[in-house]
Amino acid sequence: MAFPINRPRRLRKNENIRRLVRETTLSLDDLIYPIFVTFGKGVKEEISSMPGNYRYSVDMVVKEVKEAESLGIPAIILFGIPEKKDEVGSEAYNPNGVIQEAVRAIKKEASEILVITDVCIDEYTTHGHCGLVEGNEIVNDPTLKLLSKMALTHVEAGADIVAPSDMMDGRVGAIRGILDKKGYTQIPIMSYAAKYASAFYGPFREAADSSPKFGDRKSYQMDPPNSDEAIREIELDIEEGADIIMVKPALPYLDIIYRAREEFDVPIAAFNVSGEFAMIKAASDKGWIDEEKAMIEALISIKRAGADMILTYFAMKVAKILK
Ligand code: PBG
Repeated sequence: MAFPINRPRRLRKNENIRRLVRETTLSLDDLIYPIFVTFGKGVKEEISSMPGNYRYSVDMVVKEVKEAESLGIPAIILFGIPEKKDEVGSEAYNPNGVIQEAVRAIKKEASEILVITDVCIDEYTTHGHCGLVEGNEIVNDPTLKLLSKMALTHVEAGADIVAPSDMMDGRVGAIRGILDKKGYTQIPIMSYAAKYASAFYGPFREAADSSPKFGDRKSYQMDPPNSDEAIREIELDIEEGADIIMVKPALPYLDIIYRAREEFDVPIAAFNVSGEFAMIKAASDKGWIDEEKAMIEALISIKRAGADMILTYFAMKVAKILK
């Protein structure tokens, strides 16, 4: 039945009626807060391309995590910046590395909040790639051993969930295998299943000093025009034992989140990445956009597309609004 019987504006008349018919909500329950941990003591330095986000040393990160916990954020995800990098990313699987120490320190003081750790060696290698390098090639299978070792040291330190972001083939299975063998059958894997070779990681790479020193990540991260391939990647990760799958970035890939929601019944995470954060920040700093409104609208769109949870650098800000 058409106009004048139907008048969709009736249900938009005021905020209370809009609340009743609202289809999607953004809640504290959806948030995962990404935090950078660096070496040294007493360090809290702002990341220039990500205002309001910092690199914290282990002693300084605990306070931030406790604040996140008191705001009701359910989880954080940690990224590490080691003092020394080398060809094989040794610091990534050093049981006393920055992330392992940070997890221990956090677990002592903030026992409730879930600690997720990013598993990938790019922040730890001199060449900045997510896998071992032979000649000009990023080699797959030898990298799996290192990733498994890295994940195990995180879990031994107390990590609640591990999140491999390297995009090597078979890494979810390899990590599941070592965790189960060591008795950690109850630790979930959140896999960056459909991770694209994206220009939107720029600010992150500045923050973590992790840009590849030669070439690019196109031989392992996905080609942006592809969508069917994302479904195949997700399927493989679920088969290998992923408990939560991730689509990354979020905003330029809402169609992928939507498709994943249609095709799979596993929990879906979306990473609202550094470049997505920086765009809103920069435009609002110039007075061109309302930061708070743009932030909420962007995050709601990710939920509407089908994500169950969102990794976002806005987490603290949103939590303060939603609380
Ligand atoms: C790899 C990793 C990256 C991000 C998360 N994990 C960078 C990359 O793949 O180059 C990017 C996150 C962001 O941009 O916010 N360890």
